[in-house]
Amino acid sequence: MGDDMGYSLEQYCEDCRAALAADGGAAGREAVRANLERLLQDGDFLAAHLGPDQAVGTRTLYQDPDHEFCVLAYVTDEARTSMPHDHGASWAIYGQATGQTDITEYRRNDGGAGAGAAQLEQTEAYRLEPGKAGLYDVGDIHAIDYPGGARFVRVTGTDLNLVPRLRFDPARGVAETIENASVPDPDGN
Ligand SMILES: [Fe+2]
Repeated sequence: MGDDMGYSLEQYCEDCRAALAADGGAAGREAVRANLERLLQDGDFLAAHLGPDQAVGTRTLYQDPDHEFCVLAYVTDEARTSMPHDHGASWAIYGQATGQTDITEYRRNDGGAGAGAAQLEQTEAYRLEPGKAGLYDVGDIHAIDYPGGARFVRVTGTDLNLVPRLRFDPARGVAETIENASVPDPDGN
């Protein structure tokens, strides 16, 4: 089942370029999120990148040479529960294709900003169902939890492998900086 008008990956990336060129802040990112929900309705896009024929793994579908944003497809086989984390100086958008992702959002209450002692308070918990996309702006702390077989798109403001980011361990009350590209992406599989 597809959008009557159809909506391709190429058109999506063009729309994101235009949105981010017009507004590099919150409004541009919200357009990238809303357009992703439209892309997730397109049967041809889903079949080509997130359908049953696609192998398990993470694939970069597009990286923009000017605005740096990346569009990645995740085809998982194992369930995963991430630690709370941010994406450093990058924003991120998750859009569900198959299965679901449970998202928990947090606020940091200790007044700190970097690594070290950290106290988190849960602020939101909800489920992304297929067709839904959520935006996590720069510094927003979140955790994700998905079952094996979940498939989703993630759009990031830049290549996250190059961005120092924070991972939180609520049990130990600490935040740790992750800088090494060899450390698995907290949302990866
Ligand atoms: Fe994340």
